[in-house]
Amino acid sequence: MKRDFLHITDFSPEEIQETFALAGEIKAKFQRREDFKPFKDHSMAMIFAKPSARTRVSFETGFFRLGGHALYLGPSDIAIGQREAVKDVARVLARYNDLLMARLFAHEHLLELAKHAAVPVINGLTDYNHPCQIMADMFTILEHRGHLRDLKIVYLGDGNNIVHSWLRLAQRLPFHFVCACPEGYDPDTTTVQAAKDAGLSEVAVSHDPKTAVRDADVVYTDVWASMGQKDQADKRKEQFQAFQVNDALMAAAGHKALFMHCLPAERGVETTDSVMESPASIVFDEAENRMHAQNAVLMKICGKKT
Ligand code: CP
Ligand code: NVA
Repeated sequence: MKRDFLHITDFSPEEIQETFALAGEIKAKFQRREDFKPFKDHSMAMIFAKPSARTRVSFETGFFRLGGHALYLGPSDIAIGQREAVKDVARVLARYNDLLMARLFAHEHLLELAKHAAVPVINGLTDYNHPCQIMADMFTILEHRGHLRDLKIVYLGDGNNIVHSWLRLAQRLPFHFVCACPEGYDPDTTTVQAAKDAGLSEVAVSHDPKTAVRDADVVYTDVWASMGQKDQADKRKEQFQAFQVNDALMAAAGHKALFMHCLPAERGVETTDSVMESPASIVFDEAENRMHAQNAVLMKICGKKT
């Protein structure tokens, strides 16, 4: 049976912990420039319906360094759901490749791709979620703190794809997660409920940013208008102003708070230059860890060992 990675909940708690350990091992091997090629003679097709810097480069470079070849298919190459049926794309690409990675708009298209592809499919972001990002984020937190005990993560901004992946992780690992967003921008209620029902993590949605951030270990934000919503950017700038992660909000969080952002950041909008460049900011460690965490995910779903 092939395994996909479409949601963080596709992994058990043990598999998530094993993936973090594996990411650490792979990172150390890369730093030593060790010859480590578990994906020698493998190829991975990457379908991008949206723009990307980190996801494209971390997958392409990461897979190359593991011995494989990754090929980039941009929005006009595949035009998923427009040029031909998703299930046809799935079957054709699986005939040439050992793995598929996809960044799409509709989550349903990703599910359909995975259903019809005979090879593993990895989610590189959809309108619904971004599991590789949140695996890398939690791995980064683990590196910085040394453990994941008594962890309070406060997300500020839109209740979007990033939030949905945090909520999925909260179903598998115990931590305190608060999504502070303006009214009308709450995350998907079913996903919030599932995180609460799992009974593992303390999960809350708040509309009060200052109270939400108190005693946070991590203050996390993302763009206010995601890819596909850029026409709403001006309206959102007015509605989200109180949720900007600036020096005052970081001060309200307290001295131990780290700052994280999946990037790309709009400096001066959801956060400031000052916070991005502050000692609390670990955004570039976070960006680097995309590659190591994803490599670990790829190895895990393909049953590769170090
Ligand atoms: N964080 C992230 O996924 O960045 P890109 O959109 O540049 O891939
Ligand atoms: N929420 C953002 C994340 C980008 C990595 C988007 O979907 O555009």
